Amino acid sequence: MAELRSNTFPPPWRRGVYEAIYRRRDMRKFLPAPIPDKLLRRVLHAAHQAGSVGLMQPWNFLVIRDPEVKRRVKAQFLLANEAAAAVYEGERRLLYQRLTLEAIEEAPINLAVTCDRSRRGPHVLGRHTIPDTDLYSTVCAVQNLWLAARAEGVGVGWVSILDPAAVSRILEIPDDVVLVAYLCMGYVTRFPDAPTLETAGWESRVPLESVLYYDRWGRRPPETAGDVNGNHRPGETI
Ligand SMILES: Cc1cc2nc3c(=O)[nH]c(=O)nc-3n(C[C@H](O)[C@H](O)[C@H](O)COP(=O)(O)O)c2cc1C
Repeated sequence: MAELRSNTFPPPWRRGVYEAIYRRRDMRKFLPAPIPDKLLRRVLHAAHQAGSVGLMQPWNFLVIRDPEVKRRVKAQFLLANEAAAAVYEGERRLLYQRLTLEAIEEAPINLAVTCDRSRRGPHVLGRHTIPDTDLYSTVCAVQNLWLAARAEGVGVGWVSILDPAAVSRILEIPDDVVLVAYLCMGYVTRFPDAPTLETAGWESRVPLESVLYYDRWGRRPPETAGDVNGNHRPGETI
């Protein structure tokens, strides 16, 4: 048993990892205080440590501080959001319109994370059967950044209600590079315990058990699985 434990993080490290995961939130309200450059470097460096198919590292990080660029992206959001709202009707549309779904101009930093699909040429180890693994790799980098930022007390909000082609033009992203994520970043007053969409009554997190199968699609977990995969809560002793 001792040797099985030899690679386990010491308890405070382990707790830190879980705390970052459970306390991460998508944030859409930011304080104007600037993010120190050194901190930004740390979270970008954490993003850059992500796993990537064939060590392709297909990402680029475009740090946006220019108010004019933000203003143009915000204008794109307003267009896209109007179209998005139109798919709902009645009460649902009213609720949608009350949601805050971006903070492009308020956030001190916007960050575009891109995927260069041709990086390292046509033969990337592991990418032959699933070409989209380059996109998945880029999303891994985003999640690293999101968690590292949380540990630093910095909020991140992912804005996907945007026309990627229009935003790519504003950011002068080359045609063969894909805009994967547009993020708002900044200090926040507090991180809520639950997703904002849950609090607003839009959607709620489903229990792990409802998405967990064993051995074949649709097979429910054995009775004992609850012990291993039980729902952890922030602050719980690990
Ligand atoms: C790929 C992706 C795109 C998202 N796009 C938006 C968005 O455009 N606007 C928004 O307010 N939240 C967006 N979110 C945030 C989700 O609504 C949020 O992650 C979810 O409600 C769970 O809340 P939590 O991240 O605080 O746990 C996005 C999240 C992901 C992962």
